[in-house]
Amino acid sequence: GTGLGLGRPVAVLVSLLVVGTLAGLAQSVLLARLAEGIVLQARRDLVSRFLLARLEQVQRFRAGKLVTRVTSDTLLLREATTSSLVQLVNASVSLVGSVALMAVLDWQLLLTTLLALVVGGGLFGALVPQIGRADKRAQDAVGQLGAELEGGVRALRTVKSSRAEQRQIARVSERAEESARHAVRSAWFSALVWSVAGGGMQLAVIVILGLGAGRVALGELSVSTLVAFLLYAFNIVDPVATLAEAVATLQSGFAAAARIRETTSLEPESPQVGSPRAARAGAAGEAVRRPVDADAPVLALRGVTAGYADAQAPALHDVSLEVPRTGHVALVGPSGAGKTTVLSLLLRFIDPVSGRLELDGVPYESLSLDEVRGRIAYVEQETPVVPGTVRDNVLFRVPEASDDEAWAALAAVRLEGKVRSLEAGLDASVAETSLSGGERQRLAVARALVQPSGGAAAR
Ligand SMILES: Nc1ncnc2c1ncn2[C@@H]1O[C@H](COP(=O)(O)OP(=O)(O)OP(=O)(O)O)[C@@H](O)[C@H]1O
Ligand SMILES: [Mg+2]
Repeated sequence: GTGLGLGRPVAVLVSLLVVGTLAGLAQSVLLARLAEGIVLQARRDLVSRFLLARLEQVQRFRAGKLVTRVTSDTLLLREATTSSLVQLVNASVSLVGSVALMAVLDWQLLLTTLLALVVGGGLFGALVPQIGRADKRAQDAVGQLGAELEGGVRALRTVKSSRAEQRQIARVSERAEESARHAVRSAWFSALVWSVAGGGMQLAVIVILGLGAGRVALGELSVSTLVAFLLYAFNIVDPVATLAEAVATLQSGFAAAARIRETTSLEPESPQVGSPRAARAGAAGEAVRRPVDADAPVLALRGVTAGYADAQAPALHDVSLEVPRTGHVALVGPSGAGKTTVLSLLLRFIDPVSGRLELDGVPYESLSLDEVRGRIAYVEQETPVVPGTVRDNVLFRVPEASDDEAWAALAAVRLEGKVRSLEAGLDASVAETSLSGGERQRLAVARALVQPSGGAAAR
């Protein structure tokens, strides 16, 4: 009967529906995976670029700005790289298809349409870079907001004790307002682009109708061709508008990409004579195994002049210094004399302008960063804690060391009792705020006391 006759087409329709739904699902998931893959890769690249770069270059950026590069700029990249790329392709295909069909129908009307497209394209080309510029400014302001906020929270005790909360709030809010202002500007331009593209195409349809009607009256064009042509012309309004939107979104993505690209000026530290692996096996390894000249001082500065790029006079001028193999050396001088600068040189955070440094009589140029830094335990002046647990902090230089070594180091700085009193012991997480200033300093000393077993430090 009729029920059986309908069963088949209905089954076909249902299976098409299922297939279509699954395909749509797969497309969304694949797109999302692609987008997140791009974001992930960009974030990984940025994080390793920041941590591997030379100290002075990273310090030129404010911490909050680096954070927004990694967290928010990468998100803009996602928008641009996926949905708008798909839109771009889809819209281009239907645009080209419609235009080809219109060419078959009537050349003169097609030329009118193309003229409208070119004029619209010109306006569009003028507006689109504005979107990118506004977006870049908005993101820059977000970066500054991050930096201001980070600095304010870091110095919160000072801010509160100075009763400067409102001033600080105003400073941060100002950045937020600036970002909003530029974002609205960008939205304005996007809306303009969209209206110009959509409205321009509608206008072109009206012109085609007028021209076509005239030619129909002259008998040059059949009514059916004009109607067919108009249908195709209506058909390209949508793709053109979609295309405009996609290009506008892409522009925001380019702005984000440009901000991310700015960080390529951060070069990794050099010269890295030999990777850690090469240092063990290769030529650099021989330098480590070479019997140490017992007469040579452990560390030496020979006629070293060094300074900072943005300072006029060098911080150190022709400094010579030897650190003997045994005993203690104290470096004493007024504030700003250059004591920290000497340590920065010894750890190769900065390089001397002239003169040279030696470790065991071997000039620094023939040693890798690892060989130098592996020999020196450094407690920095502003003893920050490392994010993580007590164990993470104490064993930061030698993660493979045992808990016993951690306890021994803590005992040496009289922090053992304090850590034993914590419920989680070595696993207690330490925040900047949960330790007193002195405890933080002693934790840093404990970190310096844990030595790598064997290797260079055993000598
Ligand atoms: N990153 C930097 N950029 C530019 N100039 C710097 C930088 N760090 C230090 N200076 C300058 O170099 C000089 C030496 O600074 P350094 O930090 O070595 O002094 P210091 O002897 O450790 O002083 P303090 O006892 O106060 O810690 C100072 O004039 C300082 O202003
Ligand atoms: Mg100092």
